[in-house]
Amino acid sequence: MTEQADTEPQGDLCIRTLAMPADTNANGDIFGGWLLSQMDVGGGVFVTKLAKSRTVTVAIEAMNFRKAVYVGDLVSVYANLVRVGRTSITVHLEAWAHRRGERHPFLVTDGNFTYVSIDDHGRPQPISRSDKPIAT
Ligand SMILES: CC(C)(COP(=O)(O)OP(=O)(O)OC[C@H]1O[C@@H](n2cnc3c(N)ncnc32)[C@H](O)[C@@H]1OP(=O)(O)O)[C@@H](O)C(=O)NCCC(=O)NCCS
Repeated sequence: MTEQADTEPQGDLCIRTLAMPADTNANGDIFGGWLLSQMDVGGGVFVTKLAKSRTVTVAIEAMNFRKAVYVGDLVSVYANLVRVGRTSITVHLEAWAHRRGERHPFLVTDGNFTYVSIDDHGRPQPISRSDKPIAT
């Protein structure tokens, strides 16, 4: 697993939701696919604001599942801009869980998600250079 500053969330808060019983796997823990989809939605919210267009996910890389998520955990997804290409944007996403009775949230998953700006026909379209934010 890669080194990660896991003492506090890094980046912009994109989405926050509660892990529900319907999201569990056969062990009764939260299904990894559900978590992945929350991250995908959160990253989509973040990049759509930058691209000012529809976007689709083209790749997910360097995904780490660090800790289990349980029913009742409050899950928050944070985004950090990694790269703006011609038609694509890559963001590093972190999912943090806050458990009832615990003082601090903890990092559960992170990974790099790449999205492509698309036109009304689903074809890649250039991201306007003037829209490119400054990476921090
Ligand atoms: C995303 C999609 C529109 C790209 O179409 P395409 O014809 O392959 O487009 P291109 O080859 O021109 O690539 C477009 C951009 O994506 C990037 N890209 C393509 N494949 C990639 C990959 N595996 N990883 C990272 N970036 C990738 C390219 O580098 C390019 O970026 P740039 O313009 O910033 O340099 C098309 O592949 C698609 O519709 N995929 C399905 C998307 C989808 O349904 N997602 C939800 C899945 S659940």
